Amino acid sequence: MPRPTIQRSARPIIALTPNPALDRTLTLGRGLEPGTLHRVTHVREAAGGKGVNLARAVAALAASDPAGDPAQGDAHAGVVAPGVVVAGPLAGFNGRKFRSLLEAEGLAGTLTEVTGETRECTIVLDGSAHPTEINEAGPEVDEAAWRALLAKLPEGRLAVSGSLPPGTPPATFAALLADLPRPVVVDAHGPALLAALEAGAELVKPNRRELAEAASALGLTSPDDPLAAAEALQRRYGARVLVTLGEDGALLVCGRERWLAHAPRVDVVNPVGSGDCLLGAFLWAEDAGEPAERALALGVAAGADNARRGGGGTVDGAAVRELAGAVRTERLP
Ligand SMILES: Nc1ncnc2c1ncn2[C@@H]1O[C@H](COP(=O)(O)OP(=O)(O)OP(=O)(O)O)[C@@H](O)[C@H]1O
Ligand SMILES: [Mg+2]
Repeated sequence: MPRPTIQRSARPIIALTPNPALDRTLTLGRGLEPGTLHRVTHVREAAGGKGVNLARAVAALAASDPAGDPAQGDAHAGVVAPGVVVAGPLAGFNGRKFRSLLEAEGLAGTLTEVTGETRECTIVLDGSAHPTEINEAGPEVDEAAWRALLAKLPEGRLAVSGSLPPGTPPATFAALLADLPRPVVVDAHGPALLAALEAGAELVKPNRRELAEAASALGLTSPDDPLAAAEALQRRYGARVLVTLGEDGALLVCGRERWLAHAPRVDVVNPVGSGDCLLGAFLWAEDAGEPAERALALGVAAGADNARRGGGGTVDGAAVRELAGAVRTERLP
């Protein structure tokens, strides 16, 4: 497959993160022992949330776009058109910090003030195989706040990624999305995924486990067979279904087409956020006019690049494009 030459779209992708987080990663000098004092050797703070990972992937592709510097936007029209805009509710001191961390990364945001305090998620690295994570719940966001936030979203392709904050029932949120005059892409799991499907999401992106859970909850036959489950969801709800399968790549069921893209082999450091990067790259490529299978290949490459660089949306645009050239895509019968 030739290397994709994917160029930017004029409209940004709107990465809506319903419950953004201030991520604090603490590195300890020794193994975590409950009930004892630990000294922190390194602290890293970053804007967190699945939509932020997605935005990082899109921004990386935009920054390395062969078509030119996207930061310049539509220069001759004097309009700045960023490739991606992070949207979501922000609250309190953590919210202000989130905003400045986002800006420091060069990411654009449409962030709405709500009352309370943006949640802090603490990730403890103590030398063991898996980090310890301590996540706060986040501020309550009521229906009126959502209406205000959704009303001021800029034009662009809307992707909603991640869990809902307290005070937001999945069905209420899905109904608000259904009222929007534009198609919505949703990366969610559990009741939020089912509510999004019911509300007519244009595309959903579960991983293998999330898809099996949804298929079981709906009483579908073969919930553990990703292709059968994705097809069943598509038949029932009409949504396109993009399933990420970790090192096995990704599957796309859309209309009568079923595509499987095989993941390239990489030395994995941390695959967290690979699904977010895949979705960001897929949408970016589609918006640039690429056919679904080429968008899928770019997505799979972005997921793999994130996994080998340490997760959290850490992709390099040029490396993703290069990796995409090695992704094998097949149309399933
Ligand atoms: N070990 C791996 N080797 C190569 N590619 C990988 C690996 N893990 C993930 N990927 C790529 O990243 C994509 C998304 O990964 P995964 O299925 O883990 O998504 P996810 O569980 O939704 O991730 P997250 O929710 O943390 O963003 C895969 O479809 C694949 O293309
Ligand atoms: Mg995921």
